[in-house]
Amino acid sequence: MSKREIICRCEEVTKEEIIQALQAGDTSLEAIKKRTRAGMGYCQGKSCKRLVAKLLSAYLGMPVAHFLPGSIRYPVGPVTLKVIADLDLAGGKENEN
Ligand code: FES
Repeated sequence: MSKREIICRCEEVTKEEIIQALQAGDTSLEAIKKRTRAGMGYCQGKSCKRLVAKLLSAYLGMPVAHFLPGSIRYPVGPVTLKVIADLDLAGGKENEN
């Protein structure tokens, strides 16, 4: 891997920028995300999160799994107000509109 390698293609964040964030004291995915925008792109980190975690792991000498979240949160799609209005939040009968 060279330093010019793109880690987050959505936000065009390079390996060099991730390493600079690590050297500045960022030691979590969230901290690196805030500084570099890696993981804030269209795919919401599905492509780059693991690569950033690998760099964190190598830099800090800890297992990759330590830096990855327990579950992946996929982007939410648009929902109409009718769908929300028809939800049965109280556990009673559904609205019949
Ligand atoms: S590749 Fe990083 S957010 Fe998509």
